Amino acid sequence: MNSLRLGDTAPDFKAVTTEGDLSFHNWLGDQWGVLFSHPADYTPVCTTELGTAAKYKGEFDKRNVKMIALSVDGLASHKEWIKDINETQHTEVNFPIIADEDRNVAELYDMIHPEADNKLTIRSVFIVGPDKKIKLILSYPASTGRNFDELVRVIDSLQLTAYRKLATPANWKHGDDCVISPSVKNEDIAAMFPKGHTEIKPYLRMTPMPD
Ligand code: BEZ
Repeated sequence: MNSLRLGDTAPDFKAVTTEGDLSFHNWLGDQWGVLFSHPADYTPVCTTELGTAAKYKGEFDKRNVKMIALSVDGLASHKEWIKDINETQHTEVNFPIIADEDRNVAELYDMIHPEADNKLTIRSVFIVGPDKKIKLILSYPASTGRNFDELVRVIDSLQLTAYRKLATPANWKHGDDCVISPSVKNEDIAAMFPKGHTEIKPYLRMTPMPD
């Protein structure tokens, strides 16, 4: 088992995918990435998830994020199943799906949780920054499909806070006020956040989201 943590370098790997063979780091280039696993092809929740992911590709593209999916099924199975996804979800799968038959990637990323299922990958999500560091990890059971609005929301937060001394509060979404990092001194706030700020408590200082 290889437990990855936030801040670790996302392990590089070579993979066979529905869009050809690739090396993960090369494929990412200088973009952000979402690597997400699903338990198996030809299963109902996975079918809705991959169809939904395809519909969100425009949102990920706008944010300079590449998506890549994975299960431990083979390439021929993925390619046939994509036809069903396209038909039933009224979309075109427009990102690669890794055929991880030897479980190389699943094991590198600890995507098989034996107490949940010792053969299939759980619904893992790894968001990777342009520096190839892991910025966010999520784990869902097979029974719960993911919320792609939430993935877009966390990417907005990760990208905003990566470049500014800000954090985002509970239920934050793009456009809402942000929290000024505790490391910012009061005397530096005006220069750093020209839209102004509100001090609710000395440790709770809010500012409008920067442009
Ligand atoms: C599904 O995608 O529907 C699913 C996959 C594995 C187990 C249970 C549900």
